[in-house]
Amino acid sequence: MGKSREIRRIVTGSNQVDGAGVKLVRVIGRADVEDFDPFLMLDAFDSRNSEDYIKGFPWHPHRGIETVTYLISGDIEHGDSLGNRGHILSGGCQWMTAGSGILHQEMPQPAERMLGFQLWLNLPRKDKWAHPQYRDITAALIPKAQEKSGTVGVISGTYGKTQGATQGDYVPALILDVDLKPNAQWHMAIDRDFTLFIYIVQGEGFFDSAAQRIASHRAILFGEGDEFAIQAGREGLRFVLFSGRPLKEPVAWGGPIVMNTREELDAAFRELDEGTFIKNL
Ligand code: CO
Repeated sequence: MGKSREIRRIVTGSNQVDGAGVKLVRVIGRADVEDFDPFLMLDAFDSRNSEDYIKGFPWHPHRGIETVTYLISGDIEHGDSLGNRGHILSGGCQWMTAGSGILHQEMPQPAERMLGFQLWLNLPRKDKWAHPQYRDITAALIPKAQEKSGTVGVISGTYGKTQGATQGDYVPALILDVDLKPNAQWHMAIDRDFTLFIYIVQGEGFFDSAAQRIASHRAILFGEGDEFAIQAGREGLRFVLFSGRPLKEPVAWGGPIVMNTREELDAAFRELDEGTFIKNL
């Protein structure tokens, strides 16, 4: 029998204002790099008031990371320096590889409820200069595994026999949107070497044979093991599961740019000043 993963850290994050004035919860961030490697940042949105987010994230650069934006509900309009334009809509995911560098803007549009997250996934040193690209994963492209306990949307990676919309081009990552029925029990095998955390979107979760109860809007980081088990509360439970192999590389982080060394960061900001940031690869 495998070893079940136990809770290592519970993170509530902090309320922050980012972009041109978007209220969000920074669930994980800079201080969590070692624990959550290869995941750098998780910003969660949950608002029924468009004033909280319509100022959006006007034009800004990224380099050295991938951003994964997933909306359970809402509408984010985006545009970028590659000439892409579009919307992320309810149930959809945008997987953006900044690689060598991109300029983009992300502008949430008024919606009844904006509920979702943006995850920053680090790129390995050897892929920091990858060609920038967008992957528009609409809701229809995300397979849903229907089970007795609930529904599992496979955004990335493979769950059982269900292949996700992507496997992750640079960092193999498992990202699941798990929606459990009231009191349902759910478990899955997780690669022993992979970092594992979940973010509870709605409801409450019970762990360790119901000994621990965790409420919503929290991230839970798990320790070593090869199996993950959770039980939904009386209202059901919706959470997003993130798992990936740690990169174990040095991290030099400057705002929207994440490299391996201070020199690479300095170069990036110099290139932004000089207008040479975007590479024609
Ligand atoms: Co951005």
